[in-house]
Amino acid sequence: MTDDTENRTTHFGFTDIPESEKAGRVHGIFTNVAGKYDIMNDVKSGGVHRLWKDAMMDWLAPRDGQRLLDVAGGTGDVAFRFLKRAPGATAVVCDLTESMLIEGRQRAEAEALAGSLDWIVGDAMHLPFEDASFDRYTISFGIRNVTRIDEALSEAYRVLKPGGRLMVLEFSQLPNPMMQKAYDLYSFNVIPRMGQMIAGDRDSYQYLVESIRKFPDQDTFAAMICNAGFEQVKYRNLTMGVAALHSGWKI
Ligand SMILES: C[S@@+](CC[C@H](N)C(=O)[O-])C[C@H]1O[C@@H](n2cnc3c(N)ncnc32)[C@H](O)[C@@H]1O
Repeated sequence: MTDDTENRTTHFGFTDIPESEKAGRVHGIFTNVAGKYDIMNDVKSGGVHRLWKDAMMDWLAPRDGQRLLDVAGGTGDVAFRFLKRAPGATAVVCDLTESMLIEGRQRAEAEALAGSLDWIVGDAMHLPFEDASFDRYTISFGIRNVTRIDEALSEAYRVLKPGGRLMVLEFSQLPNPMMQKAYDLYSFNVIPRMGQMIAGDRDSYQYLVESIRKFPDQDTFAAMICNAGFEQVKYRNLTMGVAALHSGWKI
């Protein structure tokens, strides 16, 4: 990543591209996969992403009366879980890609959750919300797609009320190098092929696995959350570090 403001580049998977192009490319990918996103999530993780999202809710402990902002919320998995655990809460799902939100809104209607939910198109780096307007901020498998992660974390801090909490679920790094190697073999060889077979789209899934490898490790990401102003920053590994949950508080 270069630091010259005019010509800054960033990574798009393993390719370096101008920063100004990344959001458009990410939007293109999720527009392509939206219709098959939920089924692909189950197939490529063997359903394990559901357990990780449940673990996120266990740690987050939703309460009635809370207002959740789920950024990069896609088809609504995290917001639905939050509202099922706290039926007296409300949630806003914000995402860059309208097609993902459209899928989510249809699911919300089917699950009779539509009344407690709003769906807003927006960018994690420039959230269309007032300062101090949410009790909880979640982002699940979204932050690694954001062009400038530090800006997304600052925005999370801004929109949370004092006493509010951030929780991030993201793919991470396995501390054991042998396990990491086995996991890389699976993800680089199997997931793009599955993407081709199920969604007819190998390139999008190639990007997904590359973007996972480019995301900072658990400690580096925890330090970025602290830098954004959050306190009591902690993380928990899931499935030996294939994914991790990070938590921080705005005190
Ligand atoms: C892998 S999906 C995750 C969806 C959902 N949170 C889940 O856990 O199943 C990533 C989502 O991040 C969204 N996204 C990527 N960059 C974003 C940004 N800068 N701001 C908001 N959403 C973004 C994409 O449109 C996509 O819906």
